[in-house]
Amino acid sequence: MIKVTVNASNKYDILIGDGLLDRAGEFCRAAIGECRVCVITDDTVNELYFDRLNESLKKAGYSALRFVFPHGEESKNIGTITEILEFCAENRLTRSDCLIALGGGVVGDMTGFAAAIYLRGIRFVQIPTTVLAAVDSSVGGKTGVDLKAGKNLCGAFHQPCLVICDCKTTDTLTKEIFADGCAEIIKYGVINDRPFFDFLKKGIRENLEEIIAECVRNKARVVEDDEFDKGSRQLLNLGHTVGHAIEICSGLEISHGSAVAIGMVIVTRAAVNMGICPENDLYEVIDILKANGLPTSCEYSARELAAVASTDKKRAGASISAVLPYGIGDSRLYKISVSELEALIAKGL
Ligand code: NAD
Ligand code: GLY
Repeated sequence: MIKVTVNASNKYDILIGDGLLDRAGEFCRAAIGECRVCVITDDTVNELYFDRLNESLKKAGYSALRFVFPHGEESKNIGTITEILEFCAENRLTRSDCLIALGGGVVGDMTGFAAAIYLRGIRFVQIPTTVLAAVDSSVGGKTGVDLKAGKNLCGAFHQPCLVICDCKTTDTLTKEIFADGCAEIIKYGVINDRPFFDFLKKGIRENLEEIIAECVRNKARVVEDDEFDKGSRQLLNLGHTVGHAIEICSGLEISHGSAVAIGMVIVTRAAVNMGICPENDLYEVIDILKANGLPTSCEYSARELAAVASTDKKRAGASISAVLPYGIGDSRLYKISVSELEALIAKGL
């Protein structure tokens, strides 16, 4: 088992290894002590993993409540949050109790948000079961839901008190959902770690535990440096401004990871066309995304994408912070006015 500690506004451990789900109760006992717990999960993950988690919680003396909602991004809205909050209140959860997110990024983001606002804040544990959630969304305390106008437009910063990542749970992912997580893994290499990017060419599935740990170490450093996303943390949004626009334009048909993959290619190609990134780095990015089963292009125009991207939450007044690779391992923030966004995207298509 690998342990990574995050020193944010609260300090917490991320435990990574095979089979950790069966020890989740023991880890929770050490981190949260005696309290009531409520597992929040989606219907797919509930079928696959709730019984094992519950068994382990029981062994550690917990009698867990459970709230299950339909899987998918369509559930990530304020309506589901209301249902979770009402469930917590009906069951008289108190400020000393704890929510447990068992699932992918949708479950984690919503459980974290419910924990942030229920009774003005209670604790929560993340148990990520997708690669994407393991390497990104379960760490760092960004929680929230989508609004009709855009992704993640409503939320709060609220750090978990423990993250338990059982790498074996990713064995049941479809190859498309596994690939989504690979996009976020590759993103870390393109942002600030060329040797890691090169290591990924050896195969992600084959080296998953070490790769998840490396991503989480990278993210922990970024979060410790800029927990509230005022500066350097925005680098983690490489490919995301355009990626979110692609997700929305597709009516959520294109998944988050696939959209980020395409978004990464668009901003890298834009950087090449601006003369700030070597052309060969673009080909390397495209090759590794394709090798991991990810798409690298989409059918939307610069105008369509810019119209949606201009509502992105990273917008501040009339400007937006784009992230551009000056080369693999050297991505930088690049402030542009919203009116320049369409031209930037056009350079990348
Ligand atoms: P997800 O949670 O919807 O999971 C994808 C699908 O996989 C779902 O249908 C789920 O039921 C299924 N699934 C989950 N675990 C499984 C398993 N082990 N075996 C089989 N099926 C399983 O999506 P995701 O890709 O994990 O996360 C995407 C979400 O994360 C988006 O909403 C995105 O905005 C958010 N996100 C948040 C952050 C953050 O910092 N908070 C970072 C990146 C992404
Ligand atoms: N996933 C981007 C962030 O956590 O900042």
